[in-house]
Amino acid sequence: MLSAESLGKIDRELAKYPADQRQSAVMSALAIAQDEKGWLAPETMDFIAHYIGMPPIAVYEVATFYNMYNLQPLGKYKITICTNLPCALSGANDAASHMKQKLGIGFNETTADGVFTLKEGECMGACGDAPVLLVNNKRMCSFMSNENLDQLLEELSK
Ligand code: FES
Repeated sequence: MLSAESLGKIDRELAKYPADQRQSAVMSALAIAQDEKGWLAPETMDFIAHYIGMPPIAVYEVATFYNMYNLQPLGKYKITICTNLPCALSGANDAASHMKQKLGIGFNETTADGVFTLKEGECMGACGDAPVLLVNNKRMCSFMSNENLDQLLEELSK
């Protein structure tokens, strides 16, 4: 189900907690699984549950609570634009409109070539850098003017 490399990473997370607290590693384990698979299929979550020794429903509860877990296949690049109030007051809605227009998709949609998925996100703790977005949950991009958005799309499209 998961590569030896991913299992090794999960084992390192599990080693951080007492043997009777293995469930404490579930968020890390899900993130590692998602990094490998791109999304969390039910069978992937079942595997994590079995590996850690948790009821599958408890793993689903975690995976469905946090919006960084992908519960369906997405494009190669998930672009999440923060549209919360501080960002909205500093151009986030314009940035979102620009991205929708450039990509020809709306929020929660994926381009026909499978490269980009656009998501609306909650505050990322970088309100002073608005508008901000995340690429695949890990790369934060700040001050996303239309020009910077165009540059980002060009870079990712290569
Ligand atoms: Fe967008 Fe805080 S409101 S980062």
